[in-house]
Amino acid sequence: MAHSTWPDAVAKPLNPVRLRAAVGGSASMWTDVRVVAETGSTNEDALKQAVDGAAEGLVIAAESQTAGRGRQGRRWLTRPGAALTFSALLRPQPVPRASRGWLPLLAGLATAAGLREQTRVDARLKWPNDVLAGELKLAGILAEQCGDAIVVGIGVNVLGREDDLPVATATSLARCGVDHTDLTSLLAAILQELEARYRRWCKVGPGEVDASGLREEYRSLCDTLGRPVVVQLPGDRELAGLAVDVDQAGQLLVRPRRGELVAVSAGDVIHVR
Ligand code: BTN
Repeated sequence: MAHSTWPDAVAKPLNPVRLRAAVGGSASMWTDVRVVAETGSTNEDALKQAVDGAAEGLVIAAESQTAGRGRQGRRWLTRPGAALTFSALLRPQPVPRASRGWLPLLAGLATAAGLREQTRVDARLKWPNDVLAGELKLAGILAEQCGDAIVVGIGVNVLGREDDLPVATATSLARCGVDHTDLTSLLAAILQELEARYRRWCKVGPGEVDASGLREEYRSLCDTLGRPVVVQLPGDRELAGLAVDVDQAGQLLVRPRRGELVAVSAGDVIHVR
């Protein structure tokens, strides 16, 4: 594939052949791994494939996105090489619908684990699944559902130019001192971490986050727990309190200064110092 607009030579481009060799063994769940130079949104593309009946295990990665989507209706646009952007199609049929809220958290864990393995960055999580380096956002995840399919879209900021970063509170691997990121190795590592946790989650009592060890792992990597937070809830409401835990459904449990514990299923968390 030609990489005609490849920038700055500070990240090694995705290499589909090496990527498939790294993740596509006969026992791997990643059975259809595609790399495209440019697309609107890999989530949109994977959702279309899901509607057309594509099987679980499809991965679509793009060197740049012109209409990338973020959480809460935000946009996530990237020039070539500025970010690692990809989507994975999952169909967690064994897991009851009520337990599927854990999948976005599981994806956050896998992304942080892949980053920790491939770089020296101390990647941690802000509920539900922002990947942080310090207090700044290094990677974001958007999980979208369509019937029994869930598309998990992951974007990792790689280059450090001001206009490469999706939000003011973002950082990138380059800004964390990681130069020449090998996008192929990083994507392979995240996919392997995702597969390992997904298989455990589907198998050990379907969706069971305690028996699979996922809740414990999440607690150990999540910087939100134990901190005062403000949660911006849908409908322009706010909740202030102490984030005490994450429950079996993946909800954040917040203890307000007055009143009962609140279980939050959707919202933007601000860590208060
Ligand atoms: C967030 O707002 O934190 C989530 C950002 C998710 C961005 C990724 S990039 C790959 C995939 N395709 C998209 O359109 N969005 C996700």
